[in-house]
Amino acid sequence: MVADSTVLTTGRLLVATFFLPETISFQVPTRDKDGRFRTNSKSSNDGPGVSSTTQRPATLIPPLAAVDTSNGAMSDETQRSAPTSRGAPNDMSMAPKGILPPSTPSNPPRYFRTTSSTGEAVTTIPRPIANKAERLKDHERPGLPQRSSYHGQLSVPPPSILAPPAETKEKEKLVSVFPAAAPRPTLNQPRSKAGDHPSISIHKSQPHRRPSIDSAKVFAEAAWTVEKAYSGNIGLHNAVNSIQGQLSKRIWIGTLGMATDTLNDRTREDIKAELALNHSSVPVFVHDSDFDGHYHQFCKQILWPIFHYVLPDNLRSKSYEDGSWKHYVAVNRAFADTIVENYRQGDTIWVNDYHLMLVPNMIRERLPDASIGFFLHVPFPSSEIFRCLHVRKEVLQGLLGADLVGFQTYSFARHFVQTCSRLLSVESTPKGIQLESTAVNVGIFPIGIDTKSLRIKRQDPEVAQWVKELKEKYQGMKLIVARDKLDYIKGVRQKMLAFERFLNLHPEWLGKIVLIQVALSTSEQNEVQGQVSDVVTRINSKFSSLSYQPIVFLRQDITFSQYLGLLTAADLCLITSLRDGMNLTSHEYVVCQEEQKNPLVLSEFAGTYGSLGACLRVNPWNYTEVAEAIYEGLTMKEEEKVIRWNELSKHVCTNTAQFWASDFVSELVKVHGDVQRRYSIHIPLLSMDVVLPEFRAAKRRLLLLDYDGTLLPYERASSVRAKGKTSHEDMFKIIQQLTNDPKNIVYIMSGRVQESLDEAFGAIDNIGLCAEGGCFLKPAGKKTWETQVQEGDTQWRKKVMEMFEYYRERTPGSEIEEKTIPIVWHYRQADNPSYGLWQARECQNHIEEAIGSIYPIHAVVGRKCLEVMPRDVSKAQATKTIVEGLRQQYGTDAIDFIFCVGDDRSDEDMFEYCNSQALDGEQRVVTCTVGSKSSEARWFVPGVSTVLQGLQALAQNA
Ligand SMILES: *[C@@H]1O[C@H](CO)[C@@H](O)[C@H](O)[C@H]1NC(C)=O
Ligand SMILES: *[C@@H]1O[C@H](CO)[C@@H](O)[C@H](O)[C@H]1NC(C)=O
Repeated sequence: MVADSTVLTTGRLLVATFFLPETISFQVPTRDKDGRFRTNSKSSNDGPGVSSTTQRPATLIPPLAAVDTSNGAMSDETQRSAPTSRGAPNDMSMAPKGILPPSTPSNPPRYFRTTSSTGEAVTTIPRPIANKAERLKDHERPGLPQRSSYHGQLSVPPPSILAPPAETKEKEKLVSVFPAAAPRPTLNQPRSKAGDHPSISIHKSQPHRRPSIDSAKVFAEAAWTVEKAYSGNIGLHNAVNSIQGQLSKRIWIGTLGMATDTLNDRTREDIKAELALNHSSVPVFVHDSDFDGHYHQFCKQILWPIFHYVLPDNLRSKSYEDGSWKHYVAVNRAFADTIVENYRQGDTIWVNDYHLMLVPNMIRERLPDASIGFFLHVPFPSSEIFRCLHVRKEVLQGLLGADLVGFQTYSFARHFVQTCSRLLSVESTPKGIQLESTAVNVGIFPIGIDTKSLRIKRQDPEVAQWVKELKEKYQGMKLIVARDKLDYIKGVRQKMLAFERFLNLHPEWLGKIVLIQVALSTSEQNEVQGQVSDVVTRINSKFSSLSYQPIVFLRQDITFSQYLGLLTAADLCLITSLRDGMNLTSHEYVVCQEEQKNPLVLSEFAGTYGSLGACLRVNPWNYTEVAEAIYEGLTMKEEEKVIRWNELSKHVCTNTAQFWASDFVSELVKVHGDVQRRYSIHIPLLSMDVVLPEFRAAKRRLLLLDYDGTLLPYERASSVRAKGKTSHEDMFKIIQQLTNDPKNIVYIMSGRVQESLDEAFGAIDNIGLCAEGGCFLKPAGKKTWETQVQEGDTQWRKKVMEMFEYYRERTPGSEIEEKTIPIVWHYRQADNPSYGLWQARECQNHIEEAIGSIYPIHAVVGRKCLEVMPRDVSKAQATKTIVEGLRQQYGTDAIDFIFCVGDDRSDEDMFEYCNSQALDGEQRVVTCTVGSKSSEARWFVPGVSTVLQGLQALAQNA
């Protein structure tokens, strides 16, 4: 863990996220009943009890769309049921002219909604984010100070958790809780206040008219203030703010989440200046139509579903596809432009989440040396799903402009690498992705919660009060708790069915168990809600008795202290998501169970499952399995509970929100340094003038020479023995000459089999040979080969052969080569080379997944071939053995000069190892690759003939 005092980066950190943490609120004049303008600057922070006839100042609260990026779920509930409970419910807001979408109940407005409470119809934008669900989220998010207005809501009677299990009221609620098709904006509001609600008036008979005042002019003159936005990725905002001490400066870059087309240039400049001065934020101004097309269409209707394994419903979304992509590009372009404008040498750029996937490469094109990181909050789907995205390549290429791409879990990262290698035919490496002239690192950074501030919030006496009340209410019963959005992907329906299965399988628990499900509304609510409510009603009517009802289903959110109370009082937490990025409810549950240490049942499809291995894992699609997990959790022995909880808690407490942010930034700084060192500085041409004096001065030299591609050109490699042998013979002579010098120790480092090397170099006495890429070594002067491979298990070869056979049959012209240890599948001669490459990637993926997970092997893509060999064998490993052997023989200063030359990827780790030897000692190390390309080597030569010339120079000048 990075200590607080560590300085992560000396430059500034620019964080680009779709929504800034700030937004702008305009105070514009409105008309009173007599038609006069009023400019009332009274604060709008009164509670919800204000009467609707009170005159309010009109406030433009920008149109915002809620985004819950931390678990990937986007909520548009806020557009539907948005009305504020934070400010006065009758706050008036005025929208700039001409961007009013139709406002009908069945087609909820995207941006604005019209209403009036003063008699004058004006266009208003109710504060869309501040409904309860959103506000609860604020509190869940790490580090956010508790807002008192939140607690103000407690005056609203919360029937919620304490809903009487025995009373028929519950039944009524179930009915009333599922309204007819029209959205019910009042769900989060006290019933009695419904009439006050601004948005209600939309659906009523109020005619809505355009504002009769010139809004452009109004906005030019209106007073405005910067306000905290209640949208966007609050988890990110808090996490980044929590590491500010480790940064020299942090700058947010994002949209204001509001329509800005009608703002004039002066207002924009003023807003920019104010945000820069007091908030270190930079607004990105995008056209209103781009905002809509980007966010509501492309992100929400195309990207979000695909990333959550829901293939878009073609009929409905097809029409968006081409058009909305244009807007997605435009918004990404606007972000890239703003970032480039504000960039200074030495800055670190963090681009956040799927709204901005093209930004990394757009910046890279203009700032080749910039340090760019990208973090994805939502899941990255398997390549089979991602392939269905029509702009799949553009999106991947956009991401590959980053130095570091971060994911929540190992499987998302693996899906990404796999998808890139399949769709773009780029090479995957253990660190990430290897491109032609650079590398992209892929890392796993699971986001966490701020455990410290959560613990403080738990101290609130209200929480204890709720725990007590719950315990009393459900005395003698066990409590299963859950809180989910009613999104399809959250699997609430599956959970209910599994609970029903549990009651069927274990009727002895009837009357002793209650499932409390808090269900939040969502975009798909009508559909999903119907499905869930059916099930809930059926189960409850089947198993209820006069004094017992098994499921308490709350179609409304609860306060944060109720939530914490619920998690604390629980005997089991049941999370059955069918897919989610990283929802942190499970983390919060673990913290709340500090005293009781009760178990957690978690779906294997939840993002957190990857980190919380000590939970009870379930496949939410198998109801029996979930039912059995419930039973196991309820009957678990005390010791096991403790062991499991300790394990869970260890993860939650070390992987906090702060750790997440600092880890990502420090990793970005580190990999950027590596990438810079390796790729952006072009490696120089090797000059023998530099090498020769060092070579002459050395007492004992080690020469490591790759064979094919380095000493022998590829084209002739197979035919050289048959045809003209001139170059072969020259090469042979040079090698012989080099080995004749007792100061030289020469090794041929080849991927060929032992026999082939013996045949080629058997005539030279004093030569060392390395065969099959490091599997076998024959030290200089010895007659026998030494194996470098652990004895025993070669079972993997059979499996790999089967896999290779499958691909050979389907790739005409390809062939399999069985070496002693490694197996190689060649597609050099394949009839269709690009198909061969495609097949090689597929095959590599399959081998690594199916066989690599059982046996210690790895599959290496070589030149038109795929080679599978034991994981701990490599040329670098062999070199290490050689060097250590020499040191044993001649002492620690055995060698003072290393010359290492090779041409392909298998030589890269050998270069890396040799370079590391230069650091600890007197040795001079020359690493050299054939062909100008990105490499670990420090120098390059253009081709095989230059290698031979160089070696000749060494041989003659010794
Ligand atoms: C987790 O899921 C709940 C319910 O779906 C949602 O309200 C909440 O915002 C999510 N929280 C985080 C931190 O992901
Ligand atoms: C569901 O899970 C149970 C219990 O783990 C298992 O016995 C059963 O085979 C599973 N059902 C299916 C259809 O896989």
